[in-house]
Amino acid sequence: MVVSASAIASKAGSDVLAAGGNAVDAAIATGLALAVTYPTAGNIGGGGFMVIRFPDGRTTALDFREKAPAAATPTMFLDEKGEYSSTIHHNSHIAVGVPGTVAGFALAHEKYGSAAWRDLVEPSVRLASDGFVIPTGLANSLSGALRKLGRYPASVAAYYKNDSTPYAEGDTLVLADLGRTLERIRDNGRDGFYTGETARLIAEEMKNGGGLITEADLAAYQAAEREAVVGTYRGYDIISMPPPSSGGVAMVEMLNILEGFDVAAGGHNGARHVHLMAESMRRAFRDRAQHIGDPDFVTVPVERLTSKEYAAELRATIDSTRATKSAVTDLVADWESDETTHYSVVDKDGMAVSVTYTLEAGYGMGAVVAGAGFLMNNEMGDFNGKPGLTDSTGLIGTAANVARPGKRMLSSMSPAIVAKDGKVIAVVGSPGGRTIINTVLQVIVNLIDFEMPIQAAVDAPRFHHQWLPDRLSIEADGVSPDVLAAIEGMGHTVRMGGRQGTAHSLAVDPTTGVRTGAPDKRDRDAGAAGH
Ligand code: GLY
Repeated sequence: MVVSASAIASKAGSDVLAAGGNAVDAAIATGLALAVTYPTAGNIGGGGFMVIRFPDGRTTALDFREKAPAAATPTMFLDEKGEYSSTIHHNSHIAVGVPGTVAGFALAHEKYGSAAWRDLVEPSVRLASDGFVIPTGLANSLSGALRKLGRYPASVAAYYKNDSTPYAEGDTLVLADLGRTLERIRDNGRDGFYTGETARLIAEEMKNGGGLITEADLAAYQAAEREAVVGTYRGYDIISMPPPSSGGVAMVEMLNILEGFDVAAGGHNGARHVHLMAESMRRAFRDRAQHIGDPDFVTVPVERLTSKEYAAELRATIDSTRATKSAVTDLVADWESDETTHYSVVDKDGMAVSVTYTLEAGYGMGAVVAGAGFLMNNEMGDFNGKPGLTDSTGLIGTAANVARPGKRMLSSMSPAIVAKDGKVIAVVGSPGGRTIINTVLQVIVNLIDFEMPIQAAVDAPRFHHQWLPDRLSIEADGVSPDVLAAIEGMGHTVRMGGRQGTAHSLAVDPTTGVRTGAPDKRDRDAGAAGH
């Protein structure tokens, strides 16, 4: 079973499973197919994380997060007057990190794959070179993205008609340059991306656009294998991504706090449920800002942050009837966009793979690498903008996540696997910047505390609090007017409306082994594919 934001890509992964490949093989094929059919976030020009649980219960985590190039500095996002510039930080060639996806997939294949590499890349070559029929969601998305992509001739040439108008649903999209890049990856593995023609084209794109990435930066990029964060919640094992993602640590910290409360009393999305979750989120996001960064550069106190003892200390500071106030001064001295995509895979043996990867913003920084046909990320925007600049709007300036050469930027991506009594129960994850962690948290709490089936757990309205700004965001119609009044009465500042990230998940019935795919309806082209 494969569940992703693109039914076409889910089918590419499921075909690999049907041909005898394992869940890692299917995850690689799905990820490469998403780079063709889901250009908002599917990518080879970005990076991400893969969490794996093997049938014997062992776990591991692969880190293919982008890295800062050698020329990066902590003050690289300031303008000539020394002021923080959001444009440089998020919307320029300087915002591009050294991509990690191809290295991550190559590492996953080398260590845990079973099929031939070529067979995993070929489906995406075919989709790009022969073309695919544009589904509803992509047609709408590309139409809306014309303003952003229209600034770059190579992006217009790739994704729009000759007269620069958008394609319609049902048209066939051929991505010839991307097809040739994928062929180089198919024939030469990671070298097909990090050296030779593709690397030369990336470096040229950077030079022409004022970016920093060189061929040497690309050649030096390495994906890393890390120990997964493993916590427990009411008897379930929660397996997720360690730093440089904050996702696994923050999620386990919140679940540990919540374990001491009867979260379900008062009902789903009732005032008590929303308040206790929001207070847990507030505390975990303060710790995220303070402590979490690339573990190759800063010491992250993972053990303490994920301990039951620390959670008990935090729980004792929560008043079940009143909201705490968040303030920049909560930070203790010396503790130092949101478009992404998640997909879930499980194979016949119970190997589970949870992948979240991203270009950061929708379509990344908007530029397709001329001649190479793929979109570049703007992931440098996930580094802190200016050392010391932490403010009530949510800008964070703590030391753990300032840019340094070769450092990975902090992430919120939280690919997760839930297991019980030695068996996989669910594979969960989400896009959505800092909302990711809280979306995954809520799907897990919906499954465990509210005993919802997986589709209901995914579909249920969500909410988000991230410490600063001190605001509780609730999806449109997420709570009743009475509950809204009760939450505001407790002292929460609430913003209601819009939608939170998707969560393409799956569940495995521990008794029958039946796999249930739960594509999130918030993504129109999403689909599950099994065999
Ligand atoms: N770019 C979103 C994240 O890594 O959290």
